[in-house]
Amino acid sequence: MSTIRDVSKQAGLSIATVSRALSTPEKVSPESLKRVQAAIEKLQYRPNMLSQKFRYNSANSIVVLVPNIANLFFSTVISGIENVAQKRGFNVLLGDTRDSMQREQEFVHLVETRQADGLIQLRPYKANNSLLPKAHVTAVNASGCENTPYPTVRIDNVAAAQEVMRYLISLGHKRIGMISGLKDNPHAIDRMRGYKAALAEAGIEFDPALVTEGDFTLWSGLNASGHFSRMPTPPTALFCMNDEMAIGAIKGLKSKGFRVPEDISVTGFDDLEFAKYSDPALTTIAQPAGKIGEKAAELLFQLLDGTHEGSTEFVLPYEFVIRQSTGPAPQQQN
Ligand code: RIB
Repeated sequence: MSTIRDVSKQAGLSIATVSRALSTPEKVSPESLKRVQAAIEKLQYRPNMLSQKFRYNSANSIVVLVPNIANLFFSTVISGIENVAQKRGFNVLLGDTRDSMQREQEFVHLVETRQADGLIQLRPYKANNSLLPKAHVTAVNASGCENTPYPTVRIDNVAAAQEVMRYLISLGHKRIGMISGLKDNPHAIDRMRGYKAALAEAGIEFDPALVTEGDFTLWSGLNASGHFSRMPTPPTALFCMNDEMAIGAIKGLKSKGFRVPEDISVTGFDDLEFAKYSDPALTTIAQPAGKIGEKAAELLFQLLDGTHEGSTEFVLPYEFVIRQSTGPAPQQQN
C-alpha cells in the first residue's frame, strides 16, 4: 500500500501540496495537480480520506456521465439530477463521453482524486465495457438495465417492450417489424427480449428479416424505414426502440407513400416532449426520465452521507401512452 509520502516523492512535491491537491484542488496549480494525479495513478494510491467514515472536505460536486447529451431523454434525466443537486448546493460536472472509455476514465479519476464526490452514469452497464463499480468511487447508474452490479435506478425495459408488442398483437398485427438500437446496447438487448417474449406468447414465429438496426437517432430511424418500405410484403406495424427512431421512421415511410397508421402502425419508446407533436402523435412508452434523474441523485447523496439503508436497485413504473400512430392491422395484408 503506498502512502501520501510515496506520492509526494513520486510527484516531487511536498506532502502539504499533495494533501491540498486531494482536499482543495482548486488551491493547487494545474501543473502540480497534474503531477499529483500522475503519481496517484502510477502508485495506485488510495487516500484514507476516501473511507466513508472519515470526515473529508467535500468537493461539493458530482459528475454525471452521459453517452449522448443530444438525446432529449438523457437531458431530461440530467435535469432531474440537477434539481436535487442544486437543492443540496452541489455542482454537476457534465461528461458527454460519446461512449469514449478514455473520457469516462478522466471523469472517474475526478472522483478518485476527490475533485468530485460521486458519480452518476447514464450509459447502461455492460460487463465487458465498464469502469464501474470501482473501489472508492461512489456511483449510481441511472436509466440502466437488468443485472447492473452497482446501485441503479431504471424501468423494466423487458416488460415495457412486451406491453407495446401485446397491444400491437391485440390490434391484429402479426408481421411486426422492429428498429433496434445498436444490438449490443443493454437497453436494446432488454427491449428485444420483450419483443420476442410477446411474439412467443402469441405463437408468432420470430423473423430476423423483420429486425433492422439503428443507433437511437432520428436519422437512423429514417434510414432503417427504407428496409421495410422496400420489402415485397412490408410489416403492418413497426416497434421502434426509441421515439427518435420512430419519428424518423414515420417520416421515411410517409415519403414512400405509406399511411401511418392505416398501412403501418408505428410505436416509440421514451415519450419525449415532441412525441405528442409528431404527425401522427406517437404511441409510446413514457419513461419517467426526470424522476429517474431525481431518484438517482437522491440515492447518490444518501450513499455519500452513509444514510442509505436497504436495496440499491430501484425499478420505477413506466406508462404506456396510446396515441394516433397505431391502429388495427390492415386486413388485406394479414
Ligand atoms: O440510448 C438511447 C436510448 O436509451 C434512449 O432513447 C432511451 O430510450 C434510453 O433508454
